[in-house]
Amino acid sequence: SRVDWEISAAEKGGYEHFMFKEIMEQPKAVRDTLSPRIKNGRVVFENLSLTEEYVRSLNRILIVACGSSYHVGMNAKYIMEKLLRKPVEVVLASEFRYCDPIVDESSLVIVISQSGETADTLAALREAKRRGARTLAVVNVVGSSIAKEANDVIYTWAGPEIAVATTKAYSTQLVILYLITLRFGELLGTIAPEEYDAIVAELQRIPSKIEEILEHREKIQYYASIYFNNSSIFFIGRNLDYAICMEGSLKLKEISYIHSEAYAAGELKHGTISLIEDGTLVVAMANHGRLFDKMVSNIKEVKARGADVLGLTGAKHARALEQVADNVISIPETHEILMPSLAVIPLQLFSYYVALQRGCDIDKPRNLAKSVTVE
Ligand code: G6P
Repeated sequence: SRVDWEISAAEKGGYEHFMFKEIMEQPKAVRDTLSPRIKNGRVVFENLSLTEEYVRSLNRILIVACGSSYHVGMNAKYIMEKLLRKPVEVVLASEFRYCDPIVDESSLVIVISQSGETADTLAALREAKRRGARTLAVVNVVGSSIAKEANDVIYTWAGPEIAVATTKAYSTQLVILYLITLRFGELLGTIAPEEYDAIVAELQRIPSKIEEILEHREKIQYYASIYFNNSSIFFIGRNLDYAICMEGSLKLKEISYIHSEAYAAGELKHGTISLIEDGTLVVAMANHGRLFDKMVSNIKEVKARGADVLGLTGAKHARALEQVADNVISIPETHEILMPSLAVIPLQLFSYYVALQRGCDIDKPRNLAKSVTVE
């Protein structure tokens, strides 16, 4: 009825889909997650029981999660290992339970979950505790099972997320992982004070930079209108870009049903390049200045096999990327380690617009559930 329609439109903030509403809410969600944890330019977590002595005593950090939360973990591995110089392992929760994991009192297990109810993640958390590890949960839903059972909880303040495909929860999880890294880096003394200040300052600019990307969404909608009929799409990148490729590819698969793969750009030549043919879309992420030339070579390799390349890079390199890619999305510059927070946004929008063009049920894709509470 008309009344029902009006209620559901109001819930979606006037937008056609929850996913779109949640994409657009990201500047606020990220700001809400950041601001209570930064005081006078320093990261503070209230009520966290992790002491300096404990953080120093850690031999390793494990990150356990499923789906997009696992992809946040993939980003965190690169970020933490770079800034903390401690080994970080990222494990799928469904694998963790059955792989006889090497965890004990000297390990910190970070579990990441939007819902706080994912069965595999909850079971992994219990297994980690059973083996003596301390557990730290990054959760969106207050009072959820994972939040209750972990030794420590840090909440993402994304607000309720309704669309099955996560967007704002992902972005806020990423921000929490940056904050944890900064805090640990301070305790360990592995981040130089100037670098710490630079990262905190840039982190606070992330919400407005996300806004800037969202304002230019028509361009991404236009690319979606060119490419939505492709039957296979590859995402390639190196280092943090590779982690973002995994998320971009998953998002696309989830809601548009297009077959897609994420590949570490340097690994393509070891097999996957055989799948590139005339007109295959390759989304190439080139956000690492020092790896830019490597990405240019990878782009040339796929172009030589007929690929159509949609490149994504920071404003500084946009011109250079236009020399090799068919089309380029340029994003604002930021501190290199924070780049994933910006780079993921165009990929979310791209998936959304592709699915829209294909007439898919965007908020409730087939076969998927928002929260998987069975093994
Ligand atoms: C489901 C959802 C995914 C999500 C995953 C983990 O499969 O469809 O979008 O990433 O669960 O969910 P969690 O709530 O634990 O982050």
